[in-house]
Amino acid sequence: MDDVKTEIEALREEIRKHDHLYYVEAAPRISDAAYDRLFQRLVELEEAQPELRTPDSPTQRVGADPVDFLPTVRHVVPMLSLDSTQDPDQVRRFHERIGRAIGGEPAFLLEPKLDGISIELVYRDGVLDRAVTRGNGIEGEGVTENVRTIPSVPLRLRGEAPSLLAVRGEILMRLSTFEALNEGLMEGGSEPYANPRNATSGAIRQLDPKVTASRPLECLAFDILEARGATFHTDTECVEALQGWGFLLPERIERVTEVDDILAYHRRYDEDRDTLDYEIDGIVIKLDDLDDRADLGSTSHHPRWALAYKFEPRKEITRIDRIGIQVGRTGVLTPVALLRPVEVGGVTVSRATLHNREELERKDVREGDRVRIQRAGDVIPQVVEVVPDDRERSEPFRMPDACPNCGTPVETRGPFTLCPNRFGCTAQLKGRIVHFASRGGLDIEGLGEETAALLVDREMVREPADLFHLDVEAVEALPGFAEKSARKLVEAIEKRRETELRRFLFGLGIPEVGATVARDLANHFQDLDTLLEADREALEAVRGIGPTMSELIVEFLSDEQNRHAIDRLAAEMKALTVDAPTGGPLEGQTFVFTGSLETMTRREARKRVEALGARATSSVSGETDVVVAGPGAGSKRKKAEELGVEILDEAAFLELLDQIAAETGTREEAGGP
Ligand code: IVH
Repeated sequence: MDDVKTEIEALREEIRKHDHLYYVEAAPRISDAAYDRLFQRLVELEEAQPELRTPDSPTQRVGADPVDFLPTVRHVVPMLSLDSTQDPDQVRRFHERIGRAIGGEPAFLLEPKLDGISIELVYRDGVLDRAVTRGNGIEGEGVTENVRTIPSVPLRLRGEAPSLLAVRGEILMRLSTFEALNEGLMEGGSEPYANPRNATSGAIRQLDPKVTASRPLECLAFDILEARGATFHTDTECVEALQGWGFLLPERIERVTEVDDILAYHRRYDEDRDTLDYEIDGIVIKLDDLDDRADLGSTSHHPRWALAYKFEPRKEITRIDRIGIQVGRTGVLTPVALLRPVEVGGVTVSRATLHNREELERKDVREGDRVRIQRAGDVIPQVVEVVPDDRERSEPFRMPDACPNCGTPVETRGPFTLCPNRFGCTAQLKGRIVHFASRGGLDIEGLGEETAALLVDREMVREPADLFHLDVEAVEALPGFAEKSARKLVEAIEKRRETELRRFLFGLGIPEVGATVARDLANHFQDLDTLLEADREALEAVRGIGPTMSELIVEFLSDEQNRHAIDRLAAEMKALTVDAPTGGPLEGQTFVFTGSLETMTRREARKRVEALGARATSSVSGETDVVVAGPGAGSKRKKAEELGVEILDEAAFLELLDQIAAETGTREEAGGP
């Protein structure tokens, strides 16, 4: 027994060493086959004696069962954000300001600013205890089991470990992984991710760790939030400690004193940006001395001792081969530049939206033009401007007179061009099917653009309700499908016969009804029939719905053809569920946030109150109950004063949240699943 235990421990040590060499040092010392033998031996020993299995064993990276939701977890130390700039003069001023404040020549550590998902890792007695996303900085989502699957995250620290260690890092997906993932998604008929950050976020927030494990991620550590029982004097020492514990760190960390060295570092990274296999969006400048950091302190949003110096968005020049027209689900014709494929920051782009007729005229973009395009992180770039060359230009582009899909004469509405053939135009139908099945709608896996196009073109689907009558054999006959994938699609659709009313409403594509309004409508009316019978007055009783929206909704719902499609769909559904009224402590209250907040963004603040049952809107009216006003609040604050609406500053707002938390005990869920 003791022999087995000794062997198990020796194997774990050995495997951890090779994991570190492979994933962190990128310098493997044994063959894959030799590694597999070690691993297999450990698996066998642990299987024979499961009582010897421990959570920090290398075999336990993917072990946990899927969960129903991700728990909310409070951070050990609030995770602040960074102040940022694109302006070198601001960097000079930052450098001077710090010099003045500490009364000497400061030294700084320079690092790349990684464009991924921020994460807090907590180790207790050297063993990974939990991983939490940044969330609103105070609390985030517990994603421990998912993060365990990332090979560069140590499950056990190397060497001597503090009793409690909280580390901050960034989770990334390599560009090569990202492109492969998107290709796979598109082949399977699903929507691709817009950028590696979204793909990372999607991977890390999975409910099933096995899905996360199938998407290779990396974690780079860059900050010690807390290390109980260890003392450091400089960030340089922290970096060394992190390396010693076995973390992967950002590349090319440098220590400098001169501002010119900071600017040069920024320039070098900017130049090399395209050769990296992951996205960075700038550099981070951090004061090295930790005592000085403590003296400078933080605002509630960011530390005063650090600054992110961001890059300009990437731009490349390419040529427009052709301008195409896309017809969307609402009938709007969008001009799209089909580009000679060009690499922009490691991602190949071949199309860019030209928005609408007015935009097109304003920029005077024509077929054959040389253009500068810009990608700010997303795969879909923008055309910035035409870059003149000696070639003779083609005629100015004109929007077509007829829908390129169905030939119906178009109508013009403001800057937009529309195909009025709502039910006969297959392009619009394809768009409606994709929207119906999208992540915010019924969320039908595997039903993306390509599949929707096939189903419509082969006349297997003439309206959304037809989806529920697809049979496996017919789908199997479609190009790109086999029996298994056909069955999967039909099952994915079948599963959605039971769905939330808010998703159903979103999926209908009612004008102006996005996810939020759909949820409000669902919560207010509680069932579809009551909503369908609602007149404008009844609709306007829903908070946030005014005369313009009520008119559009009534118009849509009373349209005979729409109504027929909705009735047919509703007949297919087994259940349209509604979240039980939250009974949240802020139920029925409407909040407006204005001015800048320090501890969180306005968006985060909105989410917080919504989670407690309140509504958050953007303008102050007679319906507003509370205005939270930070510095810089202007007209909204004034209006609130005029109307006698309660005004809270940020501190009072935080106090309110704390009070609710104390009363309901909602904030104290600790630990991962
Ligand atoms: S230091 C107190 N270093 O940037 C803040 N942050 O805008 C300490 N980030 O979400 C953070 N690369 O997760 C630091 N090398 C780096 C970073 C980095 C990326 C992220 C960070 C945060 C965001 C702030």
